[in-house]
Amino acid sequence: MEIRLKKVTLEQTKTPPETLSGVVFGTVFSDHMFSMEWGEGKGWHSAQIKPYGALRLEPSSMVLHYAQMSFEGLKAYKIESGKHALFRPRENFERMNRTAQRMCLPELDTEEVLDALKQLLRLDSRWIPDEDGTSLYIRPVILATEEAIGLKVSSKYLFFIILSPVGPYYSQGFNPVNIMVSEKYIRAVPGGIGFAKTGGNYAASNLAEKEAKELGYSQVLWLDALERRYIEEVGSMNIFFVINDCVVTPMLTGSILPGITRKSVIELGKHWGLNVEERRVTIDEVLKGLENGSVTEVFGAGTAAVISPVGMLAYKGQDFQVGKGETGPVAIRFYKHLTGIQYGKKSDPFGWLELI
Ligand code: COI
Repeated sequence: MEIRLKKVTLEQTKTPPETLSGVVFGTVFSDHMFSMEWGEGKGWHSAQIKPYGALRLEPSSMVLHYAQMSFEGLKAYKIESGKHALFRPRENFERMNRTAQRMCLPELDTEEVLDALKQLLRLDSRWIPDEDGTSLYIRPVILATEEAIGLKVSSKYLFFIILSPVGPYYSQGFNPVNIMVSEKYIRAVPGGIGFAKTGGNYAASNLAEKEAKELGYSQVLWLDALERRYIEEVGSMNIFFVINDCVVTPMLTGSILPGITRKSVIELGKHWGLNVEERRVTIDEVLKGLENGSVTEVFGAGTAAVISPVGMLAYKGQDFQVGKGETGPVAIRFYKHLTGIQYGKKSDPFGWLELI
């Protein structure tokens, strides 16, 4: 793929924040972005790296009406050796292609797009932060851009990648968050788009999250749509439980996002010889387990959230504390090891890091 390069001028050049403490996740963007377009008979074309800036979209662009789109989230790290690296980037572009199939979007050439991302990152490498616990969050997006408001599959698309230096996703950092189990709303149904990384899933979760926040909880835990008993995931991450020393996470049923951090936790846990189970988990099993002490930890896992301990689950107006409401040893072990690999501080037996 040939990429046209248009760099920022001296006046357009921005200064990365000196510190990311106090900077809200995903609100600062680097100097450049990557973009390319797709048209019928042409495929992907007009690849360019250009100054970060507004998109030119007609108000009739199909994505604005019918939400035909996909997005991804991955991170670049400044690693121990002083070099820069990505964490399992192919997994993201492969997932984007699976979302693309469900959302009728054109697929990407994983290697070409990874190469384009690396070129963008090399150009904006000074935006990869080196403060503890920080990284450069990468947001690839595909949008339907045909100018037509009849409902159909678009014949034109835009793909872009933007970069945002970030610290922790939650203001609590690595401290436990309190989560409300949603009784009133559901996120995804069998046969729907729950497994796809597409904006509609997140738009549909906003109201529940807003209501949970009003009651003092950070996020919502979703139950299955049919029986409202099986645990699915949290708004911005997958969920794990430590039940009788076994690491348990809901199996992928099609309505759960197949998280890359989720997959890494499972693989890491098995590598350590822990009992790791992907199975259906009911809310009753977890709440009873919290009461009788068989559930000792609950934590979330996601690219933005990394490993995020849960201190309290609220269900039907009742609060259930997880252990002593503190971060547990299993969550700490996963957090330290995963971030150890991501920052090149621990050996990487799986080959998850990819140098930029
Ligand atoms: C991520 O973890 O990268 C996501 O895309 C979740 C998003 C809600 C920030």
